[in-house]
Amino acid sequence: MTQVTNTVRFVLDGRIVEAQGERRTTTVLDYLREQLHRTGTKEGCAEGDCGACVVMVGELNAAGTGVEYVPVNSCIQLLPTLDGKSVKTIESLKKADGTLHPVQDEMIKCHGSQCGFCTPGIVMSLVNLVQVLPAPSRQQITDSLSGNLCRCTGYTPIIDATFKAVEKKAELKIDDHADVALLQEIKRSSTPTLTLDGEIILQPVVRTKKGNEFVSPATLAEVADYLVKHPTTTLLAGSTEIGLQVNKQFVRPDHIMYLGNVAELRQVQETATAWRMGAAVSLATTEALLAKAYPDFAEVLRRFGSPPIRSTATLAGNIANGSPIGDSMPCLMALGATLMLRRGDKTRSVLLENFYTGMKKNVLVAGEFIEAIELPKPAAGQVFRAHKVSKRFEQDISATCAAMSYTLRGGKLSAVKLAYNGLAQSPCRAPKLEAVLDGKAPAEVKAADLDAAITASFTARDGLRATWAYRALVARNLVLDFIEEQTKTEVA
Ligand SMILES: Cc1cc2nc3c(=O)[nH]c(=O)nc-3n(C[C@H](O)[C@H](O)[C@H](O)COP(=O)(O)OP(=O)(O)OC[C@H]3O[C@@H](n4cnc5c(N)ncnc54)[C@H](O)[C@@H]3O)c2cc1C
Ligand code: FES
Ligand code: FES
Repeated sequence: MTQVTNTVRFVLDGRIVEAQGERRTTTVLDYLREQLHRTGTKEGCAEGDCGACVVMVGELNAAGTGVEYVPVNSCIQLLPTLDGKSVKTIESLKKADGTLHPVQDEMIKCHGSQCGFCTPGIVMSLVNLVQVLPAPSRQQITDSLSGNLCRCTGYTPIIDATFKAVEKKAELKIDDHADVALLQEIKRSSTPTLTLDGEIILQPVVRTKKGNEFVSPATLAEVADYLVKHPTTTLLAGSTEIGLQVNKQFVRPDHIMYLGNVAELRQVQETATAWRMGAAVSLATTEALLAKAYPDFAEVLRRFGSPPIRSTATLAGNIANGSPIGDSMPCLMALGATLMLRRGDKTRSVLLENFYTGMKKNVLVAGEFIEAIELPKPAAGQVFRAHKVSKRFEQDISATCAAMSYTLRGGKLSAVKLAYNGLAQSPCRAPKLEAVLDGKAPAEVKAADLDAAITASFTARDGLRATWAYRALVARNLVLDFIEEQTKTEVA
């Protein structure tokens, strides 16, 4: 059997756990349940959908004085990503004197649980919520539960329990004071290790006798160097695609490189005209960043998976994965986003609309990776609209998502950029539809012309989630909806 030589160290309720002899693809859920016997955390789907496995993962805050948490689906997170972090499970909540967390207590009193299988995940999502929002609105509560499926209780008692729990303000914060010093103790190095010749040596978190490894660099230089030396390495960002490949397709990559600890990749840089988002910036951070400038984009992200998915998933992972129904790409394309690609010390920038070369194929060469995504800020007079059409509001896959950017010059549509997912082999711009729109007053745009452009642009193909007829109709109607407001203004 393959032997593992390194150790994953993380903090669990005031002690350091040293996980030894684990595979580089062991999931956090399996380790919690099978090795630590924390069986409160459940496995439902093992693919990030049901939320039965939600736990809180903590990191030291920037000042090093406290812990910041995100909810994660432990079923699709790989154990070595925990190195240097802390975890809270449902078992962490009960105090030494037996007192339950207010969320647990009110779940009992409000009858928020029946079979109980979903309950630990629901409680962890809510406890995570009230760490940052001690007085959440109803929408914030339902948003936080959008990745937790309960099939027997119904959500009303659970929401009631949350409102009751937050009345006990003083008791909402979990007691993690003992974890802070321990997190300092196991903090990962933030600088690369160098040989006497100045060569970078990347210490693996997990290494097998065969030489397979899981590495977790701290700097961009280490990422670039390692990928040139090991170009077949699987990059791991939020793990919301890779985790599924591990669980459902039993993929076992030889080399895995986790990007979540790379300082440069976690940064957002802002100039007067653009944001430069590092490849490891989470969708949750992106959603908050864009809420004011591009509310429709933020709404698409609010409907992207669920909070535990968005707390780790990244734009770069969505883009690199290149699913034809990837949701962020239509928005990014319509806004003229550019990718910063790096191989070794060479960089190049590629417009996202030129990134794909076919179904899940792109222009990346061996050893190259996405370093950052550059997103222009809104220009004066620019209108940006986007909408995702799916069967459910949250936690569902698009039938089609469309995004459009334009300005009105002298009452005419100009600088139109329109992009879709779900209509072709990859998300793409729609130049023939743009040509129909450009230069016309919104009221002059005819549905028949858009229909003709859709027929000329795409191959009619029925899919599992929608027929072509439905998708084509939605694609046309979304455009009409995006300009409808301007039509009303014109008439007025
Ligand atoms: C329950 C659930 C719900 C989901 N809902 C949606 C949804 O609503 N809409 C949607 O579009 N998607 C959805 N997804 C898919 C997934 O969450 C997204 O594609 C996500 O953005 C992937 O990002 P990640 O950081 O988790 O990628 P990972 O799983 O870490 O990686 C994905 C791919 O990108 C590569 N990669 C990662 N970073 C880089 C980089 N910097 N450079 C080059 N390659 C890189 C990886 O090697 C891998 O091939 C969902 C997934 C799950 C499990
Ligand atoms: S077990 Fe269903 S989301 Fe993890
Ligand atoms: S209580 Fe049974 S699934 Fe929620």
